[in-house]
Amino acid sequence: MRSGKEPILRKIKDGTIIDHIPAGQALNLLRLMAITGREGFTLALVMNVESRKLGRKDIIKVEGLELKPEDTDKIALIAPMATINVVRNYEVVEKRKAVPPKVVEGALKCRNPNCITNKPNEPIKSKFRTISYNPPKLVCEYCGHVMTHEDIVKQLLSEA
Ligand code: CTP
Ligand code: ZN
Repeated sequence: MRSGKEPILRKIKDGTIIDHIPAGQALNLLRLMAITGREGFTLALVMNVESRKLGRKDIIKVEGLELKPEDTDKIALIAPMATINVVRNYEVVEKRKAVPPKVVEGALKCRNPNCITNKPNEPIKSKFRTISYNPPKLVCEYCGHVMTHEDIVKQLLSEA
């Protein structure tokens, strides 16, 4: 019988577990990582389970795929404070905290059409400063326009 403390899913041998995802963001994260389920990885998705830290959370387990450290910043913009666990031979060998970066350069477009970073003849890279970490909120360094978490998710996914 399940005691409620048993894990809902078996352990994986090699791969990645993204844990402590804010409830409701797991599907967005899969899309961001361009994982469709047709790649051949065994994939488990758990949504809206109870968590002591978060109230409710989502979890993604991918067997056979090791996420790269450079994926962490983008993951953090969708799932702030998620934990990325790299597993080899059943052991967690690395834990990365998905902390939103202090400065986001180049990865997002400012939504203000008049921003200097959107002028066709100005080769200026976009630059945002993080003003809130959870949920992430960014302010454009050049024009002060604020990007909400929803704006960020929408933009990252429209490009994914
Ligand atoms: N996990 C897994 N397969 C493994 C090892 C771990 O599916 N071979 C899962 C665990 O079930 C857990 C997550 O990976 O959901 C992190 O594992 P672990 O670090 O052992 O758990 P905690 O200490 O509870 O993690 P945290 O402190 O980050 O909450
Ligand atoms: Zn701007």
